[in-house]
Amino acid sequence: MSLESMLELARRALANAHAPYSRFRVGACVRAESGRLYAGCNVENAAYPVGQCAEATAIGAMVAAGDRTIVEALIVTERGELCPPCGRCCQQLAEFARPETPVHLCGPDGVKRTVPLGQLLPLAFGVEHMGNVEERRRP
Ligand code: THU
Repeated sequence: MSLESMLELARRALANAHAPYSRFRVGACVRAESGRLYAGCNVENAAYPVGQCAEATAIGAMVAAGDRTIVEALIVTERGELCPPCGRCCQQLAEFARPETPVHLCGPDGVKRTVPLGQLLPLAFGVEHMGNVEERRRP
């Protein structure tokens, strides 16, 4: 049921994607620990590198609403081929999720594959690799 709702919200967001340059529309949905769902789409820009992925839009909506923990994520495209999240999106998801967090990769027929985030981004860089604040302040 929750997965169906996530897919529905991600598909609705995909329909609003701004992807006039790649013509590759993407929708994403994250479920927060609170149970709330946040969806997003890709937002491209005439200055190509400024474009934003669907996952980033969904994560931004989640953070703006006050949630901080992702317990499930879903990405949908209109193509049959499997579409894993890009490296940047994996890193952005990792900021708010755990290696075990399931990421559902979906196409026109629904979920094609579910992969734990840790498999998409093994050995993810995180705050635990930065030492404590005092250590960083040392010259
Ligand atoms: N895209 C996403 O929205 N998420 C990903 O994880 C992969 C790529 C978007 C970015 C760009 O607007 C389009 O897909 C083609 O790369």
